[in-house]
Amino acid sequence: MTDPVLSVRDLRVEFVTRRGVLTAIDGVSFDIARGEVLGVVGESGAGKSVTGAAVIGLIDPPGRIAGGEIRLGGERIDALPPERMRRVRGKRIGMIFQDPLTSLNPLYRVGRQIEETIRTHTDLSARAARQRAIDLLAEVGIPAPERRIDGFPHEFSGGMRQRVVIALALAAEPELIIADEPTTALDVSVQAQIIALLKRLGRDHGTAVMLITHDMGVIAEAADRVAVMYAGRIAEIGPVRAVVGEPLHPYAQGLMGAIPTLAHDADRLAQIPGAMPRLSAIPPGCAFNPRCPKVFARCRVDRPEPLAVGSHRVACHLYDASGKAAA
Ligand SMILES: Nc1ncnc2c1ncn2[C@@H]1O[C@H](COP(=O)(O)OP(=O)(O)OP(=O)(O)O)[C@@H](O)[C@H]1O
Ligand code: SF4
Ligand SMILES: [Mg+2]
Repeated sequence: MTDPVLSVRDLRVEFVTRRGVLTAIDGVSFDIARGEVLGVVGESGAGKSVTGAAVIGLIDPPGRIAGGEIRLGGERIDALPPERMRRVRGKRIGMIFQDPLTSLNPLYRVGRQIEETIRTHTDLSARAARQRAIDLLAEVGIPAPERRIDGFPHEFSGGMRQRVVIALALAAEPELIIADEPTTALDVSVQAQIIALLKRLGRDHGTAVMLITHDMGVIAEAADRVAVMYAGRIAEIGPVRAVVGEPLHPYAQGLMGAIPTLAHDADRLAQIPGAMPRLSAIPPGCAFNPRCPKVFARCRVDRPEPLAVGSHRVACHLYDASGKAAA
């Protein structure tokens, strides 16, 4: 296997608050390969966005990366000076957020923004950059791109605007795309199209994609592998088929029971009783222990570390040989 595009090892992110130092991300490790989509899923507050922000160097003080390593194409990027990191973000990492207007300047025609990105990162002429922008718009499924390239963001529907953002994210031919809830603001029918597009383009361009979402349906559809986060840690990570089909961690099992399907829209999201703990009140031992249907004594004392179980990695004492016999 070739080296991963993105490699995160033992990442720790802290926020310094009046009440003390809060650890938002603690010991998170994962890789993403060329052309692979890693889905990152978990309830609100699990640490999905903070993990993505750490990778792109956008943790603002009083937050800080307090430990671990982030490598892009083998090169450490977690401690680069801000100016160099800004260039990595523009060129080597593309970003897609929930609101397309985070990425698109409402005052510029969409083509201008894409062309500027292309010209900043390649030596294409103005003319060639415009043609490349048209090609990108066509590739993301914008009809009549040679005309729409001169439109302003507000002249596009939400779904079309997110397609423009994807074209913009691809313009510099990045190695990695981080998409944080890219379809949450869109109609359900449009969501599926955008997710399918992201998956196809990642594969076609050999781009690694980190797809952050709270929607297990999106993960099942688009991801090659999935990381299930809980309280700032990865509870379980593995091939999407294995984790969705046979989740091992009790929290992942609860989430998979909550995959909304179109047929059962009414009873979507069978809730796991209880709520994710606040950062200031993460319980000792396993953070999930107050909600876990399989909790036992050790869970309240020892923190489970991720262990390989078949193709999964799971942080749960049920699968630890020295714990209770695996269920
Ligand atoms: N600037 C900040 N200062 C203090 N705490 C923060 C800050 N940003 C995030 N956090 C905390 O870090 C934790 C992880 O937040 P994060 O935004 O990564 O969650 P998430 O998994 O993306 O949730 P959601 O699904 O709601 O987007 C939360 O407890 C959040 O309150
Ligand atoms: S370690 Fe214990 S509390 Fe945590 S998920 Fe496993 S069984 Fe449940
Ligand atoms: Mg988030």
